[in-house]
Amino acid sequence: MNEQHAVDVAPKRGRGVIDRYREFLPVSEATPIVSLGEGGTPLIFSPRLSAIVGRGCEVYLKYEGLNPTCSFKDRGMTVAVSKALERGVAALICASTGNTSASAAAYAARAGLRCAVVLPAGKIASGKLVQAFAYGAKVIAIEGNFDDALAIVRKLGERDDFAIVNSINPDRIAGQMSAAFEIVDDLGRAPDLHLLPLGNAGNLTAHWAGYREYQRAGKSATLPAMIGFQAAGAAPIFHGRVVENPETIASAIRIGNPASWQAANQAVANSKGAVDIVTDEEILAAQRWLATNEGIFVEPASAAPIAGLMKCCDPAYGPAYSFAQIREGSRIVCTVTGHGLKDPEIVAADSANLKTVSANEDAVLRAIDF
Ligand code: F0G
Repeated sequence: MNEQHAVDVAPKRGRGVIDRYREFLPVSEATPIVSLGEGGTPLIFSPRLSAIVGRGCEVYLKYEGLNPTCSFKDRGMTVAVSKALERGVAALICASTGNTSASAAAYAARAGLRCAVVLPAGKIASGKLVQAFAYGAKVIAIEGNFDDALAIVRKLGERDDFAIVNSINPDRIAGQMSAAFEIVDDLGRAPDLHLLPLGNAGNLTAHWAGYREYQRAGKSATLPAMIGFQAAGAAPIFHGRVVENPETIASAIRIGNPASWQAANQAVANSKGAVDIVTDEEILAAQRWLATNEGIFVEPASAAPIAGLMKCCDPAYGPAYSFAQIREGSRIVCTVTGHGLKDPEIVAADSANLKTVSANEDAVLRAIDF
């Protein structure tokens, strides 16, 4: 086999979601593609969560922490930044609870564009802040929360010199549809239920749009029920009112006035899904459970749908969507949106009690103490 032939038959890898799903995305031959090979994340079968649900149901985790900047944001960012480059913008801007800024900074670097990220001071998980600096973004910390930051960015985006790459940019939503496409491609049809965390509500909206797009294309006859989970202290959609001072340990979804509120509500209603809340205690317990029982370490916001799944299984909690009503053998997908190493402080507290022992077998064996 000569070298040229080897290149021709090699599968196309590392080219990202635009290359794979071009026909469903708002790009043309004229669009310069800015990609870091995002997407193609594993859909991991979870035997223990499946056992908790019971009745032959199958639970899968879409592990979005394995994207290039370790969150799902990269799927939308490749499209948003490619389109911004096509329009000839000089700089990108976003507000963020951390992951959008990490992703925007990386794709801006890749595109050779400048990038400003506006963040709530003191409220960004350390790994995400490190990423924004590492990729060379201009980091602006404001005395305010995410909702204040987004209001400022909306204003600055009215000027010609900035392209907003928050999920209010429809190109972001378009790119994030690719997660739904991949799930259908992997399962052979849409799941029956899809659980995910709700912050600014763009991702739930994007998944629903993706499932509908794929149904129109004849790739799946059915659609899932979309079930979103907010943190109890930051639950504007659940309560139906703006939360002025949202509070939760899950800093990624500490949002009181979501930009895609309306669209997400519609998706939930049309899909016959639900919105529910989980407490910080439930989120942290689910994060720990997933790491120690399934070997998957996610950031707190990403554990919200896992806590949510457990709530749905337990009538004692009065869940907004009870799994008592789902049919046997249902397929359930939970999106776990970001990697655990982005927000290490909470788990790192465990290591504070770490004691050093002598460098010999006896001391080590005593310390193991199983
Ligand atoms: N999970 C993670 C890890 C997130 O970073 C976010 C949002 C969400 C879930 C919620 O997704 O906003 O589409 O409903 N993070 C945004 C940010 C707000 O700035 O990084 P959503």
